[in-house]
Amino acid sequence: MKPGMSLMKHYLQFKDLRAEEYSYLFERARIIKRRFKNYERYQPLADRTLAMIFEKASTRTRVSFEAGMYQMGGSVVHLTTDGSQLGRSEPIEDSARVISRMVDLVMIRTFEQTKIEAFAAHSRVPVINGLTNEFHPCQILADLFTYLEHRAPVGADGYDMNSLKGKVVAWVGDGNNMANTWLQAAEILGFTVHVSTPGGYEVDPKVAGIRSTDCYKVFDNPRDACLGADLVTTDVWTSMGYEAENEARKTAFADWCVDTGMMAQARPDALFMHCLPAHRGEEVAADVIDGPQSVVWDEAENRMHVQKALMEYLLIGRIG
Ligand code: CP
Ligand code: NVA
Repeated sequence: MKPGMSLMKHYLQFKDLRAEEYSYLFERARIIKRRFKNYERYQPLADRTLAMIFEKASTRTRVSFEAGMYQMGGSVVHLTTDGSQLGRSEPIEDSARVISRMVDLVMIRTFEQTKIEAFAAHSRVPVINGLTNEFHPCQILADLFTYLEHRAPVGADGYDMNSLKGKVVAWVGDGNNMANTWLQAAEILGFTVHVSTPGGYEVDPKVAGIRSTDCYKVFDNPRDACLGADLVTTDVWTSMGYEAENEARKTAFADWCVDTGMMAQARPDALFMHCLPAHRGEEVAADVIDGPQSVVWDEAENRMHVQKALMEYLLIGRIG
């Protein structure tokens, strides 16, 4: 942290930031993305170091944080469970105490949310959730930015956040880390999530960490969830860490494949998103993810732009 910066913030869940902070971050992300596209150098994080700790596999999270940090003038340290003492039972609290004395920022992808919370509680520097069993806030940050980029007018203060108000996001699939994070976002930013999961895979409002259940509606039939939706989104049937359930999940989720029939229920201008990696023919049909309503490649790219804005915010605070 910069000496004198008193208020250290972590980003462990979507609800760790307020609506007004999201509005600011989306505007910073828009500016940072434009500069990147114009090959303009912007290096406010020179001499800053990000430690990235991966206890699960990653493509997008790794590349977006690493490339983003280098572009902003900083550097990264990449740690995995097997390649560090984390895999040899060093307590997470001790790891936090040590790592946070040497770097300025930490990103962690791990299993239980309690683990990242324990790390953050013993860290001297801000900690970012790069995915846990319960949440994936950086992904929803990118998803919302992508929605605004495609659907919201830009005013003097950036994207019109009212463009999200009253909108319907259809969630088709597992009541997992992505679904939980969508619910937190809906509660903070004023939209509704239509959730359809197979029996036994429902979202749990307590795990999702929402104040009330007003931000979502449950549908047994995924087609009904898609009716009138502004955005249809899904995720893998089996998340990382749940591989032992793979066969049972394949049976349970067979009717939860986003196909053109489901998309036809949504608004004609509805977007399709998927955090990726995708399994065509399982949770999404190829003609949907590769079709005209899909914005998955923008969504993946935007991970980098929004995370650059997030890192800038956590390390420097507001610009200007
Ligand atoms: N969407 C996402 O987090 O992708 P990775 O698992 O590749 O990081
Ligand atoms: N729900 C998925 C998201 C992957 C980016 C998982 O946790 O594996």
